[in-house]
Amino acid sequence: MSRPFPPPAFKIGDLVVDPPVLQAPMAGFTNAAFRQMVREYGGAGLIATEMVNARGFQWMDEHTTEHPDRLWGVAEEARPLAVQIWDNDPETMAKVGRRLVEEYQVSVVDINFGCPVRQVTEKAHSGSYLLRTPERMFQIISKLVKACAPTPVTAKIRLGCSPESINCNDIAQVVEEAGAAALTVHGRTAKDMFRGHADWDRISEIKSHLKNIPLIGNGDLDSAEKVVHAFKTYDVDGVMIARACLGRPWLFAQAAAALQGQPVPPDPSLAEQRDCMLHHYTLVKDRFGEEKGTVLMRKFACCYAQGKYGARMFRTHVAKVSTAEEFYHVVDEYFPLTVKEKPVSAQ
Ligand SMILES: Cc1cc2nc3c(=O)[nH]c(=O)nc-3n(C[C@H](O)[C@H](O)[C@H](O)COP(=O)(O)O)c2cc1C
Repeated sequence: MSRPFPPPAFKIGDLVVDPPVLQAPMAGFTNAAFRQMVREYGGAGLIATEMVNARGFQWMDEHTTEHPDRLWGVAEEARPLAVQIWDNDPETMAKVGRRLVEEYQVSVVDINFGCPVRQVTEKAHSGSYLLRTPERMFQIISKLVKACAPTPVTAKIRLGCSPESINCNDIAQVVEEAGAAALTVHGRTAKDMFRGHADWDRISEIKSHLKNIPLIGNGDLDSAEKVVHAFKTYDVDGVMIARACLGRPWLFAQAAAALQGQPVPPDPSLAEQRDCMLHHYTLVKDRFGEEKGTVLMRKFACCYAQGKYGARMFRTHVAKVSTAEEFYHVVDEYFPLTVKEKPVSAQ
C-alpha cells in the first residue's frame, strides 16, 4: 500500500473534509463553547457535537419542551458541523435525522455505534451493543440515509464488542451497503473501554473491505507527529482526535501544519493557554449563567492544566469553585504559568 502524502482532502458525500483531520464527538465536552475554541484555532476539517439521544430529542419535540443543552449552538454555528445521534429504533432515528437536516441544516448526521457505557448498551441496547446485530445496524443506517438525503449519514464504530468478537470488517461492509457516506473506527473493542492501545493495524485492514466510502481512523493520536505517522503508516482517508484536543484546541492547527510539511507551531505560551481557558469560560458562563457555568467549567479547566507542573494543586482548588470570583482567584493563584523543573521528590 502506498498512499499519497500529504494526505488529500476527502469527501463525505458532497462535503469536502479539508484537512482530513476531524474533531471527535465527546459527551459532556464537545459543546458549542468547545467547538468554538476548536474553530478559532483552525485546522479541523470537520467538527462534531456530543452524542444526542434520538428518543430524548423526539420526546422533547412531542412535549414542545426546550431542546437539551447538547443542541446548544447547533442551529446557528458555522458549518461544516456533524451532529451525532444514538438509539436503536430505525424509525425514531430517521425522524430525528430528518429534523436535524431540514430544520437545523447540519452538514452530517453521524450514528453512534461505539459507545460502551452501560446506560447506552445494556439499558438501551444502543451504541456498541448494536455491533452484535448488524441487521439492525443496516436498518437504522438505510432508513436514516433515506430520511436525510442528500445530507450524508456516517457511522462511528469500535472494532467489535470484545476482543473475542471483533467483527469490524463485516460491519464495515454492512455500513457501506446500507448507504453510509463514511466510517469512523475507534481501534478498541467496547469491552476494552479505554484500556490498552488502539489497534491501528486492525483499523487499516478495514480499508480493503470498503469499496468507495472513506475510512477515518481514531484512537490515541495526541500530537501532530502521531497524526503524520498515522497517515504515513495506515490505510486511512482521515483521522479523528478526541481526548488529546480537550485542553489543547490548537492541536488541529499543529496537525494541519505538519501534514503540509510546515514547521509545527509551538504550543501557545502558558499565559496564552490561560487566556484561552478564560475565553472558554466566558462562553460557558454566558450560556449557563455564573453558578452552573462555573461548575461545568471545572472539568474543562482541569483539561487545560493537565500535564503541566502544578496541575494537581490547580485541580484540587478548581474542583471547589462555583462563582466567577472563586474561579478567577483559583486561576490567578494556581493555573500553572511557569515551566519549572520538577523537584526530585515530585518525580
Ligand atoms: C469524555 C468522552 C466522551 C466521549 N463521548 C463520545 C460520544 O459522545 N460519541 C462517540 O462516538 N464517542 C465518544 N467518545 C469516544 C471518542 O470519540 C473517541 O472515539 C475515543 O476517545 C478514542 O479517541 P482518542 O484516543 O483520541 O481519545 C468519548 C470519549 C471521551 C473520553
